[in-house]
Amino acid sequence: MSEVKFTPKMLGIVCNWCCYGGADLCGVSRFQYPPYIKLMRVMCSGRVEMSHIFRAFSNGADGVFVGGCHINDCHYITEGNYDALGMITMCKKLLGLIGVNPERLRLEWVSAGEGIRFANIMNEFSGKIEKLGPLGKAEGMDEAALKFQFDAVMKLIPYIKLVERERLRVPVRSEEAYLKFFQSYEFNRLFNETILENLAISQIMSLLREKPLTTGEIAKALDLTPSEVSRHLNNSTRHRFVRYDEGLKAYSLA
Ligand code: FES
Repeated sequence: MSEVKFTPKMLGIVCNWCCYGGADLCGVSRFQYPPYIKLMRVMCSGRVEMSHIFRAFSNGADGVFVGGCHINDCHYITEGNYDALGMITMCKKLLGLIGVNPERLRLEWVSAGEGIRFANIMNEFSGKIEKLGPLGKAEGMDEAALKFQFDAVMKLIPYIKLVERERLRVPVRSEEAYLKFFQSYEFNRLFNETILENLAISQIMSLLREKPLTTGEIAKALDLTPSEVSRHLNNSTRHRFVRYDEGLKAYSLA
């Protein structure tokens, strides 16, 4: 019996002024790309939020595409495509941290005159997602594990946005400065100190919401070392998020 071909669920969020124009020209010119990529139009790629990306994945998207105007061509003085660049870079890092292949998320710049470029990107990206397979399968994660990880990230998004605004701002609006900043030691240090730490705490709290657990059980569930878990538990106990139950010999939510 022949195997049923995998048809991915894919979402494309495109800016009204450039990438949507490119998609429109692609259609008018009759360039082909897979019909399972559903497009959603926003006024600017800078309006795409981290929560939109994670909600799309959490609702079963196998791949998510964000398309905006070329750098320095954004139609708004706020140059929203720089915000999109920073946001997508952070999302890719977060996807990697929770065990989801970051290549399932893609950002591209497409002008309204680049219908063929739009078709090429869609074909290439959909081919990659088809090869990767359904979300979670290539990652070795079942539905419950995916839901757990996406929930933990989504709960943290207001905090991530605050950290991004206060401590992870790129001082210069240039593509080179953005790429340099997001590859820098300083960015990684700040990311680990703030977001990584709190993501682990968010995951621990989600586990403890289900039932009381020992340090070892948490470490096993999150693939962390017991000493890392102890450090997070000590911080959380100090802030009275978590308490140690002497009777159960386990931690639970305070
Ligand atoms: Fe297209 Fe801002 S209007 S990215």
